[in-house]
Amino acid sequence: MEVKKSIKKLFNKFSSSPDRILVTGGMGYIGSHTVVELINAGYEVCIIDNLSNSSVDVLNGIEKITGVRPVFENIDCTDYVALDKFFKKYEGIKAIIHFAALKAVGESVERPLPYYRNNLTSLINILELMPLNGIKSIVFSSSCTVYGQPDELPVKETAPIKKALSPYGNTKQICEEIIHDTIHSNDKIKSIILRYFNPIGAHPSAEIGELPNGVPNNLLPYVAQAAAGIRKKLKVFGGDYNTPDGSCIRDYIDIMDLAKAHVCAMKRLIDGKVESVETFNLGTGRGLSVLEIIKTFEEVNDIKVPYEMADRREGDIEQVWADPTYANEVLKWEAKESVKNTLRSVWKWQMHLMEQEEDHTKGGGMISGS
Ligand code: NAD
Ligand code: WQD
Repeated sequence: MEVKKSIKKLFNKFSSSPDRILVTGGMGYIGSHTVVELINAGYEVCIIDNLSNSSVDVLNGIEKITGVRPVFENIDCTDYVALDKFFKKYEGIKAIIHFAALKAVGESVERPLPYYRNNLTSLINILELMPLNGIKSIVFSSSCTVYGQPDELPVKETAPIKKALSPYGNTKQICEEIIHDTIHSNDKIKSIILRYFNPIGAHPSAEIGELPNGVPNNLLPYVAQAAAGIRKKLKVFGGDYNTPDGSCIRDYIDIMDLAKAHVCAMKRLIDGKVESVETFNLGTGRGLSVLEIIKTFEEVNDIKVPYEMADRREGDIEQVWADPTYANEVLKWEAKESVKNTLRSVWKWQMHLMEQEEDHTKGGGMISGS
């Protein structure tokens, strides 16, 4: 590990100049893991984040893992002027990975306008500023949510996009359309749209991971908190679905596998291999039920997850998993991590968070966002 870090530092020192990549939302869950993989692949990374759903402490984790502390600026992507200043300050950005977005599905139903304002304005600002600053490539974070309940499984990228089930999902559909329309009007810009399935897990070092804000909405943070005794019982939303064990099925993908796919996408864009817009599913190709996840989590971590069966959650789809063939073939990427290892990393990260919390109680550092 140490040797690898030293070699990378030496490489960066003596190689002419590594490509500079802007990562918006780079302090967040998927962004921070991707930053680690980009640095490991030899890119120079600059991060923009408004810390609305993340903590500046994430930079320490990235530095511990990679030996590099990337440039970070606290900028809101909806602020056109601040973004423009950033591009003037850090010239020569080769490409952008745009993660910055609000992502809580339920909250978007309660408060749709901040979701539309944040997610759409951020993308529009970036697309407007790209040609003005000589930037040609953008990777965009989309979601399997654009498929709703697909008619055929596994779902391919060519499956019809159905009416979004939430304002959040709608922002992803609209953002995809904005990218297509922009590139149709300006063929110098190229883009890769990545549709993530269900990212889970943490970096194996447990230096970075997911920081759920308040009561978790997503399954794995809730499972980990229930196992830790922070939550009384996990509610399994629905046991009467038309699936083998009655619970919903999803395609859970390891966060490091997901992060690596961004490096492949970035390379493809920088190598000039993308003609206009390409869209890829990022999933494992395998569906697992909620009950299977709980059982495997219990087995690999040797801990009980207190849970009870509950009513269906409104808006949940029954089952979805990816056909990742297109990404396998074109991006030369595939999800490799076993779900057992990923679920081990979830628990290791949970324990890391609790240790930090304990230090804080004793008067040490602070964890935010959890
Ligand atoms: P996250 O909330 O952990 O990270 C998003 C980051 O963007 C946060 O650090 C937040 O502070 C920042 N941010 C939000 N709005 C901003 C703004 N206007 N300006 C600057 N920074 C801003 O979320 P994540 O899970 O890492 O998701 C990253 C992207 O992937 C999002 O676009 C999300 O919609 C998408 N996505 C996530 C999932 C998932 O399950 N986590 C699935 C599919 C797609
Ligand atoms: C997974 C499964 C729940 C919590 C969401 C977004 C989607 C995408 C990924 C961003 C479901 C069940 C959950 C709990 C449970 N994000 N569950 N008890 O709903 O597949 O997708 O994240 O783009 O847009 O909607 O993920 O983790 O919330 O749920 O039984 O306390 O776990 O019913 O079957 P979901 P999730």
